[in-house]
Amino acid sequence: MELCSITGLKGKITVPGDKSISHRCVMFGSIAEGTTEVHHFLTGADCLATIRCFRALGIDIEENGSSVTIHGKGLRGLTAPSGMLDVGNSGTTTRLLSGILAGQPFESRLSGDNSLNSRPMKRIIDPLTQMGAKISSIRGNGCAPLLIAPGELHGIHYESPVASAQVKSCILLAGLYADGETSVTEPSLSRNHTELMLKEFGADIRSTYALDSTKATASVRPGSQLCGQKITVPGDISSAAYFIAAGLMVPDSEILIQNVGINPTRAGILRVCEDMGGDITLLNERIEGGEKIADILVRTSRLHGTTIEGGIIPTLIDEIPVIAVMAAAAEGTTIIKDAAELKVKETDRIETVTDNLKSMGCDAVPTEDGMIINGGKPLKGATIHSLLDHRIAMAFSIAALVAEGNTKILDSKCVDVSYPTFYDTFEELL
Ligand code: S3P
Repeated sequence: MELCSITGLKGKITVPGDKSISHRCVMFGSIAEGTTEVHHFLTGADCLATIRCFRALGIDIEENGSSVTIHGKGLRGLTAPSGMLDVGNSGTTTRLLSGILAGQPFESRLSGDNSLNSRPMKRIIDPLTQMGAKISSIRGNGCAPLLIAPGELHGIHYESPVASAQVKSCILLAGLYADGETSVTEPSLSRNHTELMLKEFGADIRSTYALDSTKATASVRPGSQLCGQKITVPGDISSAAYFIAAGLMVPDSEILIQNVGINPTRAGILRVCEDMGGDITLLNERIEGGEKIADILVRTSRLHGTTIEGGIIPTLIDEIPVIAVMAAAAEGTTIIKDAAELKVKETDRIETVTDNLKSMGCDAVPTEDGMIINGGKPLKGATIHSLLDHRIAMAFSIAALVAEGNTKILDSKCVDVSYPTFYDTFEELL
């Protein structure tokens, strides 16, 4: 994909359904009794991997554009897959599905692409093993392919060293199959879609926050049947983030992004944009299916640097590549810290973000747990190495819109992972 600078992005858009919520609809619908009907489902490659895996586990799933119907078979209705479960590029599929598979009376194996198979799985192997699961890394390197054999699960309390919704959700899902209460405490609250949605499905699940610290605990008790639901998935704020950034940075722009999920555990980008001087207005705020939703109005703004650290990091972890792009265009210095998790995403995003920013002429310095960006110098068009990371391809497509000269995004097709129609949405704004 080749892009160059533009002015005047104007219009009303919607973005595809939330990736985290779409995955969970399929997973929870499969282990619920009865039918789950999902609208505005994200048909990105990651969520299609989840559908593929649950079909291989005996679940009938109908797809009709962005509407998906899941014929659930209850907590004990999955059947043994005939081969390796293919999780593609999807960490969410791998980690959440492992929690469910740990509670099944059959053996399963799962594996993904090269990026997925090099991401850390010890973070789920350890707590699941403590619960009594029989889960191992087939190559013995702490990564997928994973082998999960039948085991007797016990309720545990787990103090997670990382604020990760995938780790938390994996343990809570295994907890549905345990012999007592299971709880997870994390250092700061990560996205809570599992807690909100499992509650809607009828699970006995609760969340508590320590008043004297940032720690958050979620706990689940086994015994309740899950019940099929009708769900409309909100627009994904992680996808909206690219158009929020474009609206703020591209001169003479005004963009209304409709029906976006603004769950506080996901909406850190809105706070950061405001801190950077961004003109953002939330309209039509409402709650649907336990999730907060709004229309987001964005207008071109003069941005300045900020510091992003601590408990806000998990609420914007996937948006850091595009936040870094905004920081490059903003006046002054932006410091991002406490974000070492970036190293274990689809690529090492501390490296991929700072390398690509440097190639565009930005003064970007990688650090152990984040980066320092000295913004304000005009960006120059460059060849961007996405390394097949969807969020790098999209973030740097936005950088291209404010850079001098042409920018070439290598392997831009990887946007299919979370936003297959990303470049079409642009056309609507021209
Ligand atoms: C996700 C959790 C986050 C996020 C990922 C989706 C989820 O990962 O980066 O894109 O749906 O639970 P971690 O749990 O590893 O932080």
